[in-house]
Amino acid sequence: MILVLLGPPGSGKGTQGALLKQRLGFEHVSTGDMLRSEVSKKTPLGLKAQEYMNQGLLVPDELIVEMIKTLLSNAPDKNYVFDGFPRTVNQAEAFEAMLKTMNLDVDKVFYFDLDDDIIVKRLSGRRVCPKCGATYNIYYQKPKNDNLCDYDNTPLVQREDDKEEVIINRLKVYKEQTSPLVEFYKNKNKLYVISALGSQEEVFERLKSLL
Ligand code: AP5
Repeated sequence: MILVLLGPPGSGKGTQGALLKQRLGFEHVSTGDMLRSEVSKKTPLGLKAQEYMNQGLLVPDELIVEMIKTLLSNAPDKNYVFDGFPRTVNQAEAFEAMLKTMNLDVDKVFYFDLDDDIIVKRLSGRRVCPKCGATYNIYYQKPKNDNLCDYDNTPLVQREDDKEEVIINRLKVYKEQTSPLVEFYKNKNKLYVISALGSQEEVFERLKSLL
């Protein structure tokens, strides 16, 4: 099964992707996490991607499509949940073509609907563990000990692109380049709209009931 999580930055794609992995055994593919890992290893892809990511811009389609192609061709037979990919109509078309060659298709696309004011609060409050990647929020999901990861006690950090001026740009880029995918998948009868308001568990229950 192939699922896609679509929605504005901060709408909870990563959080719900992690729950789908933990509880239902999906392979969680976050292109944002993959790129951040390349950035931290300072690979040629990471160095190129960093320039775009720090400004809240999208990394060029061809780099992303290549990354996904490599991943899928190495392990095509898993149940995948894609978080943050596709992010442009170009990427969605390339994804479709790539899946077709493997006799696969996107099964369902979940669109997380959330207002901008809540998005800004969720993103500006997000803190992540640089060691294990666990995500927290200073307003909604605090760690047990102040600013330390619950799992490995590492001091939490704020993502470069979660600074307020970059958030505004990410929202603009989302509206211009990613939101047309709502119509794209609606036209293919694959789109399921989920309110991203409420607790993580409430959103997960909504998602599960549509699976
Ligand atoms: P990426 O990492 O994908 O960022 P994003 O899409 O902007 O999404 P986020 O990770 O910010 O938010 P999310 O929806 O996953 O929310 P989360 O669950 O973390 O991409 C980063 C960059 O990489 C892009 O800007 C681009 O440059 C590049 N990139 C990535 N993919 C690309 C692609 N395909 N093409 C081109 N470029 C690409 O939650 C956010 C916060 O809210 C957390 O603190 C969380 O704890 C909290 N939260 C979550 N759910 C709830 C809830 N129900 N109630 C209260 N708080 C909640």
